Amino acid sequence: MTDREQTSFADLGKVLVIIPTYNESENIEPIVARLRAAVPDVDVLIADDNSPDGTGDIADTLAEHDPHVQVMHRAGKEGLGAAYIAGFRWGIDRGYDVLVEMDADGSHQPEQLPRLLEAVRDADLVLGSRWVPGGGAVNWPGHRKLISRGGSTYSRLMLGVDIHDVTGGFRAFRRDTLLGIGLDEVASQGYCFQVDLAWRAIRKGYRVLEVPITFIERERGNSKMSNTIVAEALWRVTAWGVGRRVGKYADEPTPALAPSKVADRAPDAARVPAAPVATDADTAGTSGATTGATPPRT
Ligand code: GDD
Ligand code: MN
Repeated sequence: MTDREQTSFADLGKVLVIIPTYNESENIEPIVARLRAAVPDVDVLIADDNSPDGTGDIADTLAEHDPHVQVMHRAGKEGLGAAYIAGFRWGIDRGYDVLVEMDADGSHQPEQLPRLLEAVRDADLVLGSRWVPGGGAVNWPGHRKLISRGGSTYSRLMLGVDIHDVTGGFRAFRRDTLLGIGLDEVASQGYCFQVDLAWRAIRKGYRVLEVPITFIERERGNSKMSNTIVAEALWRVTAWGVGRRVGKYADEPTPALAPSKVADRAPDAARVPAAPVATDADTAGTSGATTGATPPRT
């Protein structure tokens, strides 16, 4: 089966794709249309931070015409982390079983969502990953690649997590994973939020898988990436790493280097393996079928 063929994910229960927006008026309509065509069963929540360019009004119009689309209007720009936490709570309160993060600007291809949903059948958290075999970033300037790869490497070393793309924002969480990682304690505001959530999931022993995705740089509108966002990530990851070294998280099940796994799926693979297979790290002897003991699902 190819990414473009439609698949049923009814076995996963109710799936919600949360799309945070800030000034995405040129992007929101096409991305929602692509998503609804690629995986018609999912529901969509647009979490708009009162975008001055009218994204929220466009989102309302989309919602009026499609019962699968809903809009959360937030008071103002509070960062990606706050928008996602509000979106997760909204979805959890309404009984969603799988909650997906996806950017509005087309960088995350809705046609690749089936890969994440297939993998989450066998995982607690699935990370769409640019920096594993089969993944990549198209039209991304060199400095962004450097920040992303450098940030992932730094986080791997500081936090001891074997994840190749720790800042990525195309992800599928099981509801129980979100309930278990302590969303109330998450203070990260910018893209560092992504590192925070991945690290929490690993520390708590959830099964985290990476699947390759191709990230395509936006063609319309502007990135919200800023020096403040990079600085927040740098200081938080450093503080977490120092805390880890002095034993702050010692009573949590943190392996020295928690192995994540990569679902073995080339971009246009003809078929998906029933279960993701081991990565190099696993075969090299870091052992363990998962990132830790998977807590019982409730
Ligand atoms: N509601 C809300 N509030 N949405 C926001 C905010 C905010 O403060 N900041 C950004 N967004 C939305 C954007 O509108 C877009 O839909 C998505 O979040 C991603 O923002 P971009 O500004 O396009 O991010 P990027 O392309 O520079 O960054 C990419 O790389 C990051 C680092 O790897 C994305 O893949 C991010 O998800 C990723 O963390
Ligand atoms: Mn983007």
